Parts: sequence; C-alpha cells; structure tokens
Amino acid sequence: TLDPQVIEIVKATAPILEERGTEITKHFYKRMFSNNPELLNIFNHTHQKIGRQPQALANSVLAAAKNIEQLENILPVVKQIAHKHRSLQVKPEQYPIVGENLLGAMKEVLGEAATDEVINAWEEAYGVIAQVFIDVEQEMYEEAAKMEGGWYGFRPFVIDKKVKESDVITSFYLRPTDGKELPQFQPGQYVTVKAEIPGEEYLHLRQYSLSDAPGKDYFRISVKREDGSEEYPPGVVSTFLHEKMNEGDILELTAPAGDFVLQTNNKPVVLISGGVGLTPLMSMFNTLIEEDHPVTFIQAAQNRHLHAFHDYTSKVANEKDTVSYHVCYDRVTEEDKKDPYVQKEGRIDAEWLQSLLPSEEAEYYFCGPVPFLKATNQILTEELNIPSERVHFEFFGPAASL
Ligand code: HEM
Repeated sequence: TLDPQVIEIVKATAPILEERGTEITKHFYKRMFSNNPELLNIFNHTHQKIGRQPQALANSVLAAAKNIEQLENILPVVKQIAHKHRSLQVKPEQYPIVGENLLGAMKEVLGEAATDEVINAWEEAYGVIAQVFIDVEQEMYEEAAKMEGGWYGFRPFVIDKKVKESDVITSFYLRPTDGKELPQFQPGQYVTVKAEIPGEEYLHLRQYSLSDAPGKDYFRISVKREDGSEEYPPGVVSTFLHEKMNEGDILELTAPAGDFVLQTNNKPVVLISGGVGLTPLMSMFNTLIEEDHPVTFIQAAQNRHLHAFHDYTSKVANEKDTVSYHVCYDRVTEEDKKDPYVQKEGRIDAEWLQSLLPSEEAEYYFCGPVPFLKATNQILTEELNIPSERVHFEFFGPAASL
C-alpha cells in the first residue's frame, strides 16, 4: 500500500502529466528503444510511427494513477491489456525497464516541475500499478499453459492451406507441427503471430483473430493485406504473409487470448462487422450455427470484391432458418442488385438496422475500424436504446483510451 502523502502528490501532479502525456510517452519510447533496442522485437513499429501506442500507454498510466486508491476499479481494463501483454509474452522483468524509462522521460520533459519528491512518488505508484499487471498476467500465463492443448510461449504451426477470401483478405489454415491437440479457445479470441522477415533487423509480432469456430484440428486466421495509404505505411507483416508465406511454411503462435468473447446468455445474437472486422465475428458465427443458435449477421464492406466470406455466409443463410444475413456496400452495382443479401447502399443507419433486429432482447457484437465502431455504438446505445451490458465491441490496434 502507498503512503497517503505519495497518493496526494500523484493525484496533484496527474493533470500536469495529462497535459503533456503524449509528449512524455513519445520521449519515453525513444529513450527506451535507445537503451533497450531488444524491445523493438516486441513493439509494433507501425503503431510507433503513427503515434497510436504512445497515446494508449500515456492514457492507461494516467487512468491508473487517478484510480491509485482503488485499482480494482480499473481491473477490467487491466485484464484487457494483460491479455494483449500475455499474447505478446511480456515478462515481469520488463516492467522495471518500462518504469525506469517512463520516469526518466517525465523528468526530462517536465524539467524543474519534476522535483525529487514528485518523481519518487510516481516511482512508487508505478511499482504498485506494475505489480497489478504482473499478477494478472502471471495467472493468465498459467491458465494458457495448463488448459488442455494449451502451451507456454511460442508453438510452431505449419501453413496447411492458404485460401483467398477477397481481393485483400486471405485465410491461413494452421496446424501445430507437434501434431498434438489444440486448446478450446473462445470465439472472438486472437493469437500472436511471430514473423521473422528476411532483411528485417527485428522480429515482428502481430495479433490476428481466429476466424473459425473452436474444436477443429487447425487454427484459421484471415489476414487483410494492408497496402498502405497517404496516412499509413503498408503492413510489414500482412504483406509478408500474403506474398512470402506459403503452404508448408512454418509460423510460430502464442496461445489464444483476449476478452472480446461470445456469451449468448441464452439470447439471440446480432453480429455487425465493418470490413476486416468480420474475422472474430466469423468465429462466433460458425460457433452459433453449429449449435443452431439464432444469429443475425450484418456485414458492411466497401464492395463485393473487398467483401470476404460472402459466398460462404450466403450459402449458410440459405440452408439455415436460424440465420438472418444482410449486407451493406458503399456503392451497390447492377450485379449486387441480383443478390438477395445485398440490401443497403451507403452506411448502416438506425432505421435499416432496426428493421433487421430480432424482436426479443439480443446480445450485440461488433468489430471494425474506429469510425464504424463509433457510429455503430451510437446507433445501438443512443438511437435504439440497447443497454450497454448487451453491447460488446473490439477494434484492431491499441485501445485509444480507457
Ligand atoms: C500494449 C499499457 C507495460 C509491452 C499496451 C497497451 C496498453 C499498455 C494500454 C495497448 C493495449 C491494446 O492494444 O489493447 C501498459 C502499462 C504498463 C505496460 C500501463 C505498465 C504498468 C508493458 C511492458 C511491456 C509492454 C513492461 C514490455 C516491455 C507492450 C506491447 C504492446 C503493449 C509490445 C503492444 C503494443 C503495440 O506494439 O502495438 N500496453 N503496458 N507493456 N504493451 Fe504495455
């Protein structure tokens, strides 16, 4: 436990840090990677370049500091981050490295405002926060290893099959090279893939959702090739997987992780996807259809060519009364008009969505890019008044804020 005086100092200085949080964490990363370049093997370089990760860490350290007296308040968020950390194999001994550099960066950015007293207080607070993460993660490491078919660290898988799902999305069917069983993951969970790319100085780790139901003798991931744009550089790992990794090649994976997972609570389920956000939802969908559980699947995509799994989902919807399937494209072509499942042009709106929803209470899961998530969340919770306990979402990339 922390001294009341320490708590007081931390709380009093939190607003200063908040103001300069992004500056501090940017400096922190530069400092840490120059002191400990080996950490470039686990951090996502693209997220560094576009400044997303600095913000996520800044926000979470501050949020933790503000809740320093009742850290149990932020436990759900700690768990979500801890899943990511466990998936990336973050270790207890790395916490002091992060702490040292974070405090060093605070000192260097804040200058005179960072007195010894202030820095010491934050050092203590960081220690307490770090211990919470370390304990939660320790439990997760043990759980992942001891479950049937589970494992510690990285496990080699062979690419058994590579299947093109759209112009930009390709599935990889992965089987463990040891031939042993796989764990019963929860639909919605992801794995970390280790990419050792020839010519690249460091390893690259990326998370991909498992896109098929659990209980198979393979894992499937479905990867979007990120070609880059004016705003974003091309995806280092996604282009490597698409262009260089073929059937017979080996990829190493950590055990499934993540808390965006299907829980039906005996209610019908509504799945809503934007673009490649459909991958974790495909795992949920396939699980639900195996159980003949009522499911409404609404997929938004730019167009038919960029829309993955459409033939498959249409076929299932044709065959099963428990499935209701609806597609929305940015622009609908003459060809699309002949397709009974393409029912909307433009964006998902409240009126259209409402017309598709089951009459009873349902559980809602959605996934996609940030603007899609914001819009969908607003429609569901504000316009259609769905209680937030029944609304679950995830986006790809570091959490923007707590
Ligand atoms: C991701 C917070 C310690 C490595 C994250 C994220 C947050 C966070 C908020 C984004 C989560 C998401 O994507 O959903 C923290 C806090 C820490 C801490 C508050 C200390 C108390 C560490 C340590 C390491 C580490 C010790 C290992 C050196 C990473 C990596 C990612 C990550 C590699 C993925 C980021 C990326 O590359 O995109 N962390 N973290 N973190 N963290 Fe931590």
